[in-house]
Formats: sequence, structure tokens, C-alpha cells
Amino acid sequence: MDEAATSAIHGVVIAIDGPAGSGKSTVARILAKRLEFLLLDSGALYRALALHLDRLAVDPDVPVVPESALESLDLRAETAAEGVRLFLAREEVTDLIRGERIGSIASRFSTKPEVRATLLTVQREIASKGGVIAEGRDMGTVVFPHAQLKFFLRAEPEERARRRYRELVERGQPAELPTVEAEMRVRDLRDSTRKESPLVQAPDAISIDTTHLTPEEVIQAIWRHVCQELPFACLNETR
Ligand code: DC
Repeated sequence: MDEAATSAIHGVVIAIDGPAGSGKSTVARILAKRLEFLLLDSGALYRALALHLDRLAVDPDVPVVPESALESLDLRAETAAEGVRLFLAREEVTDLIRGERIGSIASRFSTKPEVRATLLTVQREIASKGGVIAEGRDMGTVVFPHAQLKFFLRAEPEERARRRYRELVERGQPAELPTVEAEMRVRDLRDSTRKESPLVQAPDAISIDTTHLTPEEVIQAIWRHVCQELPFACLNETR
């Protein structure tokens, strides 16, 4: 990418929010690569923090997470278009945080304002390094309310559970579809009804129902908006 294009995209944020299994991670990863943007997988940050707190034996349902536990977090994200590699101190935890257990703990810790405040700084710092595709639950509402483009992906719960199940099986993790679906519903409810930064669509977000769409079709839909609103970013396509 030439210098002019690099400086034009600096500070550009494309927010993609939605529940688990809505397809946001796959789409965000491909888009980041195509646009040569950084990928901010905020869920992975919540998972890494959850792993850290779990190792310190902090109960996810404790009313307030002790300050010392949050202060001792030594989280480093190596962000690139291919994805994010996460480290707790020197240990890489990128794969370790992917299981259902850590997902559930992350969801419980993420209801707490002190946890969200800790990660708010981390997320904005990552985004200060270039154009970014930020995916999560509150990217367009709280973390990057001024994002140039916002998308909200949704899909029927049964389809989201099937996608999540396939993903776990592909990773070689033991899973059963009814359990995955039941856990997903619990997590959805918690994520969308919590007081702090709940999963809701930003008023200025573009909603896309991905139930019957392939990832490529979702990308095409998003791409049209990118080219319309951010033509200089669209020109950087490296497909
Ligand atoms: O996207 P994910 O499944 O990796 O996220 C794990 C949990 O982290 C999710 O259930 C809620 C929390 N989370 C959040 O509260 N805010 C975000 N922006 C991203 C994730």
C-alpha cells in the first residue's frame, strides 16, 4: 500500500457487531485481509482476560473483580491482517482461549464495568495503529461510537449454534449440538441484557441477516457499503 493510502486509512474503523455464530469473525478476518486493515477481535481480548482471572482463581460471579487481579494483567496483542496473536506475559494463549468454558467465563466477567474499562484502553490503543476492522458486541455502540461504518450481523439461533458446533468439531474439541445451542442461548441472553455495554445494534449500523448467506455473500454486501462510503479503502483491495 502506498503512503497516501496508508495515511488515508489511518484512524478508519469499520465496526462489526453481533452475537456468537452470526458470522462476524469469519467475515471480519477476510475483510481485514482484503483491505489491509488490522483485525481487532475484541472477544479474544475478553477471553484472554478471563483466562488470566481464572488462573488467579477469581470467581466470574464475584461482585467486583479485585483491582490487583486486573492490574496484574500483562496482555499483549500482536495484530495483523491474518488475525491476532495474544500473549499473557510471554505465553501465547491464542488457541488456549478458544474453548466453550473460557467463552462462558468471558461472558460472565464481561458484565463488569471494571473489566470493560480495562479492555477499553487496550482496544483503542490497538485501533490507533492503523485502519481497523473491529469485531465484537459493543464496537459500534461504545468502543468506537464514531466508526465510519458499522454493521450488525444477525442470524437465527439454530443456525448460529450449528456454525459454532462445526467450528468446535473442526478444532477437534468435543461438542454436542444441543449443549452448544443451550449454552449459546444462555450467553446471548447474558450478553444482550447486561447493564454494561449490552449487545445491541447501534442506531446507525447496517443490519445484515446472515442465516441464509455464505460468508462470501455477506462480504459482498459489506463491500458495497465500503466502496460507497470509503472509496479510498476499497481501492486498496488486494484480493
Ligand atoms: O466473541 P466471543 O465469543 O469470542 O466473545 C466471548 C465473550 O466476551 C462474549 O460472550 C461476551 C464478551 N465480549 C464482550 O462483552 N464484548 C465484546 N466486544 C466482545 C466480547
